[in-house]
Amino acid sequence: MTDITEQENKMEFEDAENEKPVGLALARQEMLDLGNKVSEILVDRVKNLPAQDAWDGEFRKELDARLLESAPENGRSAEAVIDQAANEIMSIALRLAHPRCFGFVSSSPTWISVLADYLAAGFNNNVCTWLVASGPTHLELVVLDWVRGWLGYPESAGGLLTSGSSAATLEAFVAAREFAGNPNQPTVYMSDQTHYSVIRAAKMIGIAPQCIRIVSSDDRFRLDIDELAKAVADDQAAGFSPIIVAANGGTTSTGSIDPLNAIADLCESQNIWFHIDGAYGGFACITEQGKQLMQGVERADSISLDAHKWFFQTYESAVLMVKDLRTLEDTFGMRPDILQDTVWGADHPNIANRGLQLSRTDRALKIWMSVQTFGMAKIRKHVANGMELAKRAEAYIDESAELELMCPVTLSAVCFRFNPSGSSLDEETIENTNRVILARAFWEDRAFFSSTLLRGVFTLRFCIINHDTTWNDVHETLEVIKTFGNEVLDPNHWARFGSCALPVTAENSS
Ligand SMILES: Cc1ncc(COP(=O)(O)O)c(C=O)c1O
Repeated sequence: MTDITEQENKMEFEDAENEKPVGLALARQEMLDLGNKVSEILVDRVKNLPAQDAWDGEFRKELDARLLESAPENGRSAEAVIDQAANEIMSIALRLAHPRCFGFVSSSPTWISVLADYLAAGFNNNVCTWLVASGPTHLELVVLDWVRGWLGYPESAGGLLTSGSSAATLEAFVAAREFAGNPNQPTVYMSDQTHYSVIRAAKMIGIAPQCIRIVSSDDRFRLDIDELAKAVADDQAAGFSPIIVAANGGTTSTGSIDPLNAIADLCESQNIWFHIDGAYGGFACITEQGKQLMQGVERADSISLDAHKWFFQTYESAVLMVKDLRTLEDTFGMRPDILQDTVWGADHPNIANRGLQLSRTDRALKIWMSVQTFGMAKIRKHVANGMELAKRAEAYIDESAELELMCPVTLSAVCFRFNPSGSSLDEETIENTNRVILARAFWEDRAFFSSTLLRGVFTLRFCIINHDTTWNDVHETLEVIKTFGNEVLDPNHWARFGSCALPVTAENSS
């Protein structure tokens, strides 16, 4: 019997004759077996998803007990590690791709997107420069050109794929600040419905918090253009330098779209950079209805869009598109000595010169493979499906005597609350009732949805963007909400669920 040390030595120096340590490489059959094992786990997960609850989670203490340890000095079987990862770690999370996951803005990647990520990880190309990755760089240009066409941008437009809209917005803002000539006292404008990542991007380019102007929104949560024009004029008169207006191409709460053409008019007349946050709504532009809703999108100097949201891709994949590619390349282009061999001229761009990342994963492959496999007609249909289901939910809520619509549907976000007509409940009771409904659905129903505040009013919210969500999924969840609501208003149920809340909040987490 060989002892452990002998076995380890054998493993590490199996190819001892060639003095070649092979400890991190695996044999071909083992690689295939492990790959097949992972495939089986993932395919089963996808197929079993609808039968499971949309949410799973665990408290920190429990996970500490299961997982917290020093990094092990000696390894163990890869199969056991994969099993543990799949069963005890990865599955303890919100199942974003679940057909009844309506919370936040979810993500339901196609299987092709998952496979593309596997391929991309296996090749592990660094899509930094043409020299290092010609094929993947070219593919990124192809995908960017598709997006350019979908948005109706001119030939001069271009961009790059990013980790998400937060990164895309930051990069756009850096370009905008440079475009403006890095003036003193710069100011940036956005509505009170704008995603916090846009505020953070403004801070990151050095805009003082008091110079981030928050403009009111109207009764449909769209930026008030008159207030914006006045804010810009007042700032100019007071010696500030307005450099960016950031519009919403689908707010996270309600899906509202700011008046893009009116904002473009103002920005063009005042030479201010016009950015659109299309993280959630941008890909609606591939549909006829979305194009109508987003009229004026092609006039923006920059736009961010999340492919990991409404284009059915895995994380992390987003697009930053700018109307004039030079604005990005002038800002981010560098020519370090160490990369002098990578300068191949304008026809062979180095995408690392368009943004903050040098080492870059291949994000274009999954978009390209998904489009090649399914075709745009099918993808378009599934984006449109989200909008249709949201409209159907809106009609259902409108007709319901128990549910109240809180904002007309624009894209695929539906904001409503349980508030039986004629019941004359006070606001506090309505809010408490809806909080309990949310908590009960969280614990007791298969679906997952979240809430928002609309002008301070607690509101339930569905965002319907997953590609395999059906009307049945939406309808049954609305029915459950009505059932829970009626039960909550029943005095016997108040006794049981009176102060029910989601398990982890800022207040009760330690
Ligand atoms: C409207 C909007 N903008 C920006 C973001 C941030 O995007 P990301 O998470 O891709 O950085 C989100 C994310 O949900 C969003 O909904």
